[in-house]
Amino acid sequence: MERLQKIIANSGYCSRRKAEELIKSGKVTVNGEVISEVGTKASFSDAITVEGNTLKQSSKEYILLYKPRGVVSTAKDDKGRKTVLDLIKTNNRLYPVGRLDYDTSGLLLLTNDGNLTNLLIHPKHEISKQYIAKISSAVNPREIKKLMTGVFVDGIKTKADRIKIKKIDKKKETSIIEIIIHEGRYHQVKKMFKAIGYEVTSLKREKMAFLDLSGLKAGEYRHLNIKEVKKLYNLAK
Ligand code: URA
Repeated sequence: MERLQKIIANSGYCSRRKAEELIKSGKVTVNGEVISEVGTKASFSDAITVEGNTLKQSSKEYILLYKPRGVVSTAKDDKGRKTVLDLIKTNNRLYPVGRLDYDTSGLLLLTNDGNLTNLLIHPKHEISKQYIAKISSAVNPREIKKLMTGVFVDGIKTKADRIKIKKIDKKKETSIIEIIIHEGRYHQVKKMFKAIGYEVTSLKREKMAFLDLSGLKAGEYRHLNIKEVKKLYNLAK
């Protein structure tokens, strides 16, 4: 369920402010009933008219999910495990933009817009992804720096765009490291740390480009708005 003015604006009919005016002046109906209270919630599957026009939902849907751990990010799993699609209510056939491992949590986009997906997952477009990794040892900062100059992962030289050591706990023998990369190969972050002798025990993707997880708890999601979608297209061009 979303606020009606947001649904109208997201469809591209008009701005959110204009949609509020139209609602207040009784120009909007939901399932045949005039709704004049701004903020009334409706769902994408309701029949909505604005000034007598049936609102066509964009056939493209863009979702930002806070993927919890313990969920696969493929559409189907041969072991019958829960998938990210089980967390989302939609009539569209969505698929994830890239992957997060079963035991990785964090930001995952899902869409049925194949053009945007291809643009976003192509390494040449340098869409940045920020992760927070927990390591099962007290790291040596000199070793960590090697990730900035480059390490070999499956025979390919790979480097981080930025690394920040957030915490080294010598007693507990753990560390927390923030890492930004723009490639997205299979198990990339875990393998980068492995290449310098460290094991990642937990991994979370906190950001992708300008998008983050604010306002969401693990398992929750929201729709991207038109501005965000346009911005992603512009970044990837
Ligand atoms: N790197 C990994 O190792 N795993 C992920 O899920 C994402 C990036």
